[in-house]
Amino acid sequence: MTIDLGSEHDLKETIATELEGGRVRTLGLVEPFSEEDLWRSPSRLMSPLVWDLGHCANYEELWLLRNVAGHRPTDPSYDDIYNAFEHPRWERPSLPLLGPAEARAYMGDVRGKSLDVLERVDLTPEERLLDRGYVYGMVVQHEHMHDETMLATIQLMKEKAYPPAATQPPTAVARIEQDMVFVAEGSIEIGTSIEPWAFDNERPAHRVDLPGFWIDRTPVTNAQYIAFIEAGGYQDPRHWTDAGWTWRQESGKQAPGFWKREGSSWVIGRYGRSVPVELDEPVQHVCWYEADAFARWAGKRLPTEEEWEKAASWGPDGRKRRFPWGDDDPTPDHANVDQRHFGPAPIGAYPAGASAYGCHQMIGDVWEWTSSDFQPYPGYEWFPYREYSEVFFGTDYKVLRGGSWATHTTAIRNTFRNWDYPIRRQIFCGFRCAKDA
Ligand SMILES: [Fe+2]
Repeated sequence: MTIDLGSEHDLKETIATELEGGRVRTLGLVEPFSEEDLWRSPSRLMSPLVWDLGHCANYEELWLLRNVAGHRPTDPSYDDIYNAFEHPRWERPSLPLLGPAEARAYMGDVRGKSLDVLERVDLTPEERLLDRGYVYGMVVQHEHMHDETMLATIQLMKEKAYPPAATQPPTAVARIEQDMVFVAEGSIEIGTSIEPWAFDNERPAHRVDLPGFWIDRTPVTNAQYIAFIEAGGYQDPRHWTDAGWTWRQESGKQAPGFWKREGSSWVIGRYGRSVPVELDEPVQHVCWYEADAFARWAGKRLPTEEEWEKAASWGPDGRKRRFPWGDDDPTPDHANVDQRHFGPAPIGAYPAGASAYGCHQMIGDVWEWTSSDFQPYPGYEWFPYREYSEVFFGTDYKVLRGGSWATHTTAIRNTFRNWDYPIRRQIFCGFRCAKDA
């Protein structure tokens, strides 16, 4: 999302458009569902969709009405019901949630007031929360991140109204080598201090010296992953870390999430239907342990998040780019984002989105697991609240980069960091491998 640094009027128009775009997306995602379905929770890992609706409204109220404009709470009990830290996802169906109609009304009421506040507010650089509309960017990205989570819930719900018609992935694909590209040693800038809507965990920009390394030109495909399965990768503890092998044995998993063997081939359960596994698509729904085991089996390793960011954003010219292809926001030629196709696209579908080093599909398609734990950057300061990132730092979570087909363009960039437990695979995650030079 490029912030127009022109007039405050232009910035406010951009913000209003972004808020509206997020809301159209959210309401569109739940539109095919009955009231009853919105209460359903398909897994202990996910909230019922109706919780996400009320939560997005409550978050917007908290930040854009109460923090920015000093409004009183609509109902103080909402702050507890919709507090993600107070209530784990499995507990949310039993909370006194607003029903679908009330949640939609709450969303609409808060939104009307936020647009009024936006008209009057002074987006002064003197206040960090308002500088270049930061707090608005936070609320817009928050709703988009919930939309992606809702898509993961919908996939688990096996909803047959999905995917909506007319979303064919690109069929014209470039023929590209599935080899590795070399990234020479050198100091680079990691993170950002200038991206207006970057989160606290992406800041500040800092120099890092990296030795030379090799990294896969493309994400690991289903064909490559099937080779790992067929070589007995899931049966051989040598490829797995101790924790990974424990997960493998306890979970009994022997293939990516939603995969099923049918005769001699594999099918994927997608929204309640069986579709063939497309060999040239990036593999998705593999957890960190599986990605790590594949990499060892292949004689490689997962990239660190710094290596990933260098391959995505740097180039021989020593200049940092916001996206692999440059500084311009993604268009449909660059990347598979915005749930345009409701699934990953084949390798080679986005030649215009390649990075300067020649890596394809780094943005969109599948989130890519890295070997890195989610840790603060040197000089990190929480902003505007500790629970956004700080409480997650440590060795429990692994960093994912690049966004998926379900990520919105406003909520992704080369510096964006996502994190999750190494056992998680209901998210739209895959990986690419790296190797020491
Ligand atoms: Fe949230």
